[in-house]
Amino acid sequence: MAKKLAVIGAGLMGSGIAQVSAQAGWEVVLRDVTDAALARGKDGIEASYAKFVSKGKLAADAAEQALARITTTTDLDAAADADLVVEAVFEKIDVKREIFSTLDGLVKDETILASNTSAIPITKIAAATSRPDRVVGTHFFSPVPMMALCELVRGYKTSDETLAAAREFAESVGKTCVVVNRDVAGFVTTRLISALVVEAAKLYESGVATAEDIDIACKLGFGHAMGPLATADLTGVDILLHAADNIYTESQDEKFAPPEIMRRMVDAGDIGRKSGRGFYPHN
Ligand SMILES: NC(=O)c1ccc[n+]([C@@H]2O[C@H](COP(=O)([O-])OP(=O)(O)OC[C@H]3O[C@@H](n4cnc5c(N)ncnc54)[C@H](O)[C@@H]3O)[C@@H](O)[C@H]2O)c1
Repeated sequence: MAKKLAVIGAGLMGSGIAQVSAQAGWEVVLRDVTDAALARGKDGIEASYAKFVSKGKLAADAAEQALARITTTTDLDAAADADLVVEAVFEKIDVKREIFSTLDGLVKDETILASNTSAIPITKIAAATSRPDRVVGTHFFSPVPMMALCELVRGYKTSDETLAAAREFAESVGKTCVVVNRDVAGFVTTRLISALVVEAAKLYESGVATAEDIDIACKLGFGHAMGPLATADLTGVDILLHAADNIYTESQDEKFAPPEIMRRMVDAGDIGRKSGRGFYPHN
């Protein structure tokens, strides 16, 4: 019998995780708080499958079968018989802790609870449960159907068995895993991009080089697909400022201390593509 996965949160990430999992044969129950959010999530999945079919990357009947493996609900109880739960709700620790605490009393003893958090320490989420050894981070990247990486994060008490099960799940949906062995702020990926963006913004702020030249240096010098300042504009200067601030607060490591220019850009509303201007104009 197919294994059952519950995905909590049908937003950008939750619907992407549900999509790749159903395609890989998991029976998926997708839970959100409103029918509107579930409809948006399911429509997005359907549209994405259709795109893969039109490009010849997925057979039409495989897409139909995958879609049929996804059920949606606003009832958290539907997660009760899941073998694995992946949480992908808002990046708010209180919301996540409440969900994990409820799930802990609901699911089978052996069920693993995973969080897709990009930055909250897994240990803090796991502490809301009576099974911290069976809580793990499965940090997928956006857009989930396209991005090959899943960063697995060990909380302070995550067991080897839980990590192995999380790896098995992520690999079953076609991802390549990297393991974060210590639950540090920003894990591996957010630390790397934060350090790079902070240094690039410092070089830009002090007039050492233009934004264009900093990005060209990374692209042509290191083979990066996108330069750090263009990445900041795409992700949101506000999001990266927040990430770097958090890592700096926890680590007290100066290399993560964001330069003033990032704060002033956020104050001014120049946060990147979503506002029309960041390190570059976007019209
Ligand atoms: N967006 C990204 O690029 C990205 C990348 C990696 C990780 N993440 C992480 O993934 C998580 C989800 O991010 P997202 O971009 O999908 O957010 P999103 O805002 O698109 O979706 C969040 C969804 O969670 C739902 N929700 C809120 N409370 C809920 C509850 N109690 N039960 C069920 N659903 C609930 C909301 O209605 C919404 O549909 C966050 O922790 C985020 O940090 C995001």
